[in-house]
Amino acid sequence: MLLILKPDKEQLGHEAARIVAHAVRRNPSLRLGLATGSTTLTLYKELVRMHRDEALDFSGLVTFNLDEYLGLPANHSESFHYFMHEHLFRHVNVKPENIHIPDGTITGNYDTYCCSYEQAIRDAGGIDLQILGIGRNGHIGFNEPTSSLGSRTRLKVLTKETIDDNRKSFAPGEKVPECAITMGIGTILEAKRVLLLASGSSKATSIAQAIEGPVTASVTASALQHHPDVTFIVDQQAGAQLRHHDYYARVLRLTAELTPDRL
Ligand code: F6R
Repeated sequence: MLLILKPDKEQLGHEAARIVAHAVRRNPSLRLGLATGSTTLTLYKELVRMHRDEALDFSGLVTFNLDEYLGLPANHSESFHYFMHEHLFRHVNVKPENIHIPDGTITGNYDTYCCSYEQAIRDAGGIDLQILGIGRNGHIGFNEPTSSLGSRTRLKVLTKETIDDNRKSFAPGEKVPECAITMGIGTILEAKRVLLLASGSSKATSIAQAIEGPVTASVTASALQHHPDVTFIVDQQAGAQLRHHDYYARVLRLTAELTPDRL
């Protein structure tokens, strides 16, 4: 586990973009797992800038999004389809046929659909680098507390806390989705490398629990403790409740010195 502490959300996004761009340059046909949410905005903005100013090439990339609300059409402004196109895809040269986002408009045969999403990941050769955010309740993807730590892509009922967090983005009186399709914890753990981003004081408890607490289905991000190559990039506020700052800083310094390729 590596922890990179950044002063603010802007610099957190730049650091994440640096790591993603390095991975894309090393492997132009990278299979990249993507997340949505406000924390990822500075990452996508910087990737768009790198595409424009530094010719970062997305043409060989294959992408898989973590999740999507059930019941929202792709063109709804709160759908993750819309988010991804608005903030990344329409600004870079990723091929439309290489983009995979769970379909939130299906109305039945959920298990069959979710198995086919897993199959598409396997057919592509698995995910090389998975980007994650984290919820206030410690969720990754929409793997809410009590999710099985071996779970696969499936239909998931959202907690009241998540629905309330999401409500802020919907129009007053509009129905907020109660369910989503999400990759499972087992799916996420199979990615070769994981990059989790967290910003702001509302994430401080879940970050401390995920990194330094016990592995528990009550904080599904804690399952990442079982992952062999996970990097957390957090800003000062999100890292405020961590206890081992000095150790993380030494690990980072010596990793950069001894195995710079890991960064
Ligand atoms: C979204 C996702 C969620 C978010 C998390 C944090 O694709 O998987 O787990 O990453 O809810 O969202 P923000 O960044 O909006 O706080």
